[in-house]
Amino acid sequence: MKILVTGGAGYIGSVTVAELIERGQEVVVLDSLEEGHREAITRGARLVVGALADGANTEKVLREYGIEVVVHFAAYSLVGESMENPAKYFINNVVNGLKLLEAMRGAGTGKIIFSSSAATYGSPTRVPITEDHPTVPINPYGESKLFFEKILHRYHAAYGIDCISLRYFNASGATHELGEDHDPETHLIPLVLRVALGQSPSVKIFGTDYETKDGTCVRDYVHVSDLAAAHVLALSCHGEHAYNLGDGHGFSVRQVIDAARKVTRKEIKAEEAPRRAGDPAVLIAGAEKIRRELGWEPKRITLEEIIGSAWEWMEKHPKGYK
Ligand code: UFG
Repeated sequence: MKILVTGGAGYIGSVTVAELIERGQEVVVLDSLEEGHREAITRGARLVVGALADGANTEKVLREYGIEVVVHFAAYSLVGESMENPAKYFINNVVNGLKLLEAMRGAGTGKIIFSSSAATYGSPTRVPITEDHPTVPINPYGESKLFFEKILHRYHAAYGIDCISLRYFNASGATHELGEDHDPETHLIPLVLRVALGQSPSVKIFGTDYETKDGTCVRDYVHVSDLAAAHVLALSCHGEHAYNLGDGHGFSVRQVIDAARKVTRKEIKAEEAPRRAGDPAVLIAGAEKIRRELGWEPKRITLEEIIGSAWEWMEKHPKGYK
């Protein structure tokens, strides 16, 4: 298949590109390199440097390479930043996403696999969260992802574009070659591992008064390779679908730090800090739907495996891709 991967130089995008190439697909990456890394693009994939804000360029790329499916990762994804600067999120994740859809319509591209998020649900009223849970985002990031899902729904109904929204829970871990390198880094696991590497003195625990077993937030950490595998399965989908991607196990911030201490055999100093705005207490996926319908089976589900893979990558790349 001829596949365009937007944001294919980013964290989850690059791992998915590697998986697609491994399976013999023809891959074109469209990435502005604002946050992505050229070094993260697997050999065999073609890179076009460009931003989705330039819809005419996207349409040209779709036509030139005869693209059949778009896998759409390119977006901003920081919950905290979205609270302070919602415009950045609505413009890139919604307006520029819409330009991508218009380019697809212009070029006659009939399918999109969209990186959505557990943040579309907001604070859950029940866990595990299944796909029919109400979607009431509590931050602009989640809202931007939900708006785009709604746009996809209308584009499917009116123009027949197949759309598969994959709602990721907490992407984490690394492959031997590809890992997480954000600037600034805000995600828990890489920040904890930076302390283990001696790059920062301590990690902050944002909030210790949540209604959870140890007072800290609980998340469903899902290995990036398992996320990539789900995109490959979604290539065979037709129609309109939304699937959760998590493995149904929740771990608290304190559990993550403890597991990292075990894996790295380093002390890892942690400091209690106030809550971070926009954080729901618990996010755990009910992911039966994608297991049942597409046969998805996450393979790396223990915290030790997930953190161990991230640690291996960070030890090899202490400065990221630089
Ligand atoms: N946390 C800390 N200290 C830190 C960083 C994070 O205590 O230094 C806490 C957060 O408050 C949160 C948990 O660790 O409770 C996980 O935080 P991350 O920033 O790693 O991840 P988020 O849960 O905020 O968000 C991630 C993605 C989103 C996605 C969400 C869905 O970044 O895009 O998972 O579950 F929407």
